Amino acid sequence: MALSKISLAAVGLLHLFGATDAYSPAARSVAHSTIVDRADELLSEYDYIIVGGGTAGLTVADRLTENGKHSVLVVERGVFQNSSSVTTVSGGFRGLIDPTLTFNISSVPQTGLNNRSIAVIGGLILGGSSGVNGMQVLRGQREDYDRWGSYFGKKSEWSWDGLLPYFQKAWNFHPPTPELVDQFDIKYDASYWGSTSNVHASFPTFSWPVLKMEMAAFGDIPGVNFPSDSGSGETGAYWHPASVDPAVVLRSFARPGHWDGIEAARANYHTLTGQKVLKVAFQGKRATGVVFVPAGATDQSQARTVKAKKEIIMAAGSIHTPQILQASGVGPKKLLKEAGVPVVVDSPGVGSNFQDQPFTVAPSFNFTTFPFQPDFYDMLMNQTFIAEAQAQFEANRTGPMSIASGNCGSWLSLQVIAPKSWKDIAKRYEAQNPAAYLPSSTDKSVIAGYKAQQKALAKSMRSKDSASYNFFLRGGYEEGSVVYLHPTSRGTVHINPADPFFSPPEVDYRALSNPTDLEVLLEFTPFTRKYFYETRLKALDPVELSPGAEVTAPEDIAAWLRTVMIPSSFHPIGTAAMMPKHLGGVVDEKLLVYGVKGLSVIDASVMPDLPGSYTQQTVYAVAEKAADLIKARA
Ligand SMILES: Cc1cc2nc3c(=O)[nH]c(=O)nc-3n(C[C@H](O)[C@H](O)[C@H](O)COP(=O)(O)OP(=O)(O)OC[C@H]3O[C@@H](n4cnc5c(N)ncnc54)[C@H](O)[C@@H]3O)c2cc1C
Ligand SMILES: *[C@@H]1O[C@H](CO)[C@@H](O)[C@H](O)[C@H]1NC(C)=O
Ligand SMILES: *[C@@H]1O[C@H](CO)[C@@H](O)[C@H](O)[C@H]1NC(C)=O
Ligand SMILES: *[C@@H]1O[C@H](CO)[C@@H](O)[C@H](O)[C@H]1NC(C)=O
Ligand SMILES: *[C@@H]1O[C@H](CO)[C@@H](O)[C@H](O)[C@H]1NC(C)=O
Ligand SMILES: *[C@@H]1O[C@H](CO)[C@@H](O)[C@H](O)[C@H]1NC(C)=O
Ligand SMILES: *[C@@H]1O[C@H](CO)[C@@H](O)[C@H](O)[C@H]1NC(C)=O
Repeated sequence: MALSKISLAAVGLLHLFGATDAYSPAARSVAHSTIVDRADELLSEYDYIIVGGGTAGLTVADRLTENGKHSVLVVERGVFQNSSSVTTVSGGFRGLIDPTLTFNISSVPQTGLNNRSIAVIGGLILGGSSGVNGMQVLRGQREDYDRWGSYFGKKSEWSWDGLLPYFQKAWNFHPPTPELVDQFDIKYDASYWGSTSNVHASFPTFSWPVLKMEMAAFGDIPGVNFPSDSGSGETGAYWHPASVDPAVVLRSFARPGHWDGIEAARANYHTLTGQKVLKVAFQGKRATGVVFVPAGATDQSQARTVKAKKEIIMAAGSIHTPQILQASGVGPKKLLKEAGVPVVVDSPGVGSNFQDQPFTVAPSFNFTTFPFQPDFYDMLMNQTFIAEAQAQFEANRTGPMSIASGNCGSWLSLQVIAPKSWKDIAKRYEAQNPAAYLPSSTDKSVIAGYKAQQKALAKSMRSKDSASYNFFLRGGYEEGSVVYLHPTSRGTVHINPADPFFSPPEVDYRALSNPTDLEVLLEFTPFTRKYFYETRLKALDPVELSPGAEVTAPEDIAAWLRTVMIPSSFHPIGTAAMMPKHLGGVVDEKLLVYGVKGLSVIDASVMPDLPGSYTQQTVYAVAEKAADLIKARA
């Protein structure tokens, strides 16, 4: 395909990166977001259009453009942002300080959580959530990926073995320094990782002294292992890297990893930023293009259409991909009719099967005997310490400010955390009527899919090799940073029938709607107490801060959970699930949308259920695989 450099520059991008003359961040944002006047510079047709320039979208765009044979357009609602809130490593969550970097939708009030609405948050910049996340780099257990394949039968290529090469392709691993390894007994095995990606996984050069004891304390609990590497796909306690480029000690994410310099150097690669895709255009059942408006538009008067010859690739994330599909006529027929959207294909699974990992689900503790200095708290409160850490970081890019949001913790099975009750919990869960706790309007195929998940998840509950509970350590006063990895409740993401295009989607976690979740969570509090009081940590005289040691009756713990639990750790998945069609799936094993032609989904929405870890590492690996699948059918 012949694209002149001039037309590329006119789209407002090429010149920004080749040239050395400085562009202020503001000018850059403007250049990236005011293409509407010049939309005639866009090609009228591309081979591929990628909807969403986030974690998965930019990864796939890089891979599809690298041989120069195919033209690709990425349409991203956010703009190029490279402020210190995006790039800074220290603390990990600075992306949440600047509200221009994220979307923030108020969820449907959660009846299971005293009617609280939850802030639904994700990245809204070029690079997506990888540009605002906590930088923790973790993959699930082997069984998680084998379970995904099991929904398709024995011969599926979706499995641990099938994905391992993509984990290796996705990440460039940098081992911890020998000093850190010695000080903290860190185990790692680089064979689970790769060394070619531009997306980096590395360790800080310093960590909090108490972590050695806190990690060892997990080993005082029966059944807890220390795997050879965080990427070995096992349960246990381990150290893991962060998405940090160690050469510069800045956040490593999809934009610097797969776009900076690359897009500008490839004539077959265009990016539109500050433009929001409203819908996919169809000719019959074939997806032919996308309709978009400037991100701030409130009506369709400025709507434009760009066409794609080969494929429209959905990568708008688990909250917006289902919204766009539904608004395009791909979704549950009843919802579409209510919204006045013409039905292209009745696809009941779009927006159902919504899952995230509940957080704030265990007590917090402090230590009253504390012979360690410094600790995590110094970095928050001790101005002398902060000044020293800053000076060290500025001089050498080392020290406490090279820590993002943490590098160690435990990922434990239900057997380990509930040795007395895991069998009964799994048995009661397996015996449930699969329709009983899904919304009453749920389609038969989606119920059948949940039944398949229920069987597979009951198996995971019984497995030593599948994690249910995750405690991520901070290194001092421990806030009870516990995450529930495999919730059984299922929520929904639906277009607002009154305004499918411009109103945010209606997000309902349906938190605690399945009673098994509360049964499991009621085990988290006593187990967390056991970790502090019945291991070597007892020597530090732990005190429980919240909800308080006097809260022991299950009904009191449950009441506390309903006031504090957040049903999200920012890991939404499942809203365009890769499952067989008769199981309510939205995409097949090749990630193509059922019932239409030329449309695929590649982001976190395709995960049928959660891995026993956070999601970014898996999103990158799935995207690398998606790129190969798309190239194979080019
Ligand atoms: C605050 C936060 C902290 C997290 N911490 C961690 C962590 O520490 N470790 C971890 O493993 N995972 C973490 N995650 C999760 C992880 O980052 C995500 O799972 C992953 O990045 C999702 O990738 P994605 O490609 O599915 O979506 P995204 O990366 O979110 O990309 C979607 C893109 O689509 C764009 N978009 C949306 N709607 C439209 C539209 N209509 N038109 C055009 N573009 C659109 C968005 O702006 C965005 O750029 C965190 C996430 C968040 C938000
Ligand atoms: C982003 O910011 C970092 C830190 O200031 C800088 O080193 C890097 O060059 C910037 N990247 C781009 C593409 O502007
Ligand atoms: C999201 O919105 C809520 C409610 O307005 C606000 O309290 C919260 O700080 C916002 N969060 C982010 C990250 O913008
Ligand atoms: C939650 O809202 C529902 C419907 O408005 C109401 O019936 C119920 O009493 C509320 N519950 C709580 C705990 O406030
Ligand atoms: C934790 O305990 C220390 C004293 O051991 C105290 O200085 C600190 O304020 C406590 N932190 C919290 C959050 O209670
Ligand atoms: C604060 O940090 C300084 C410098 O590291 C240290 O000497 C001091 O003891 C710390 N103060 C407290 C209260 O821990
Ligand atoms: C930076 O590193 C050098 C060499 O290790 C060391 O001498 C110096 O004190 C460090 N600077 C700071 C501010 O920590």
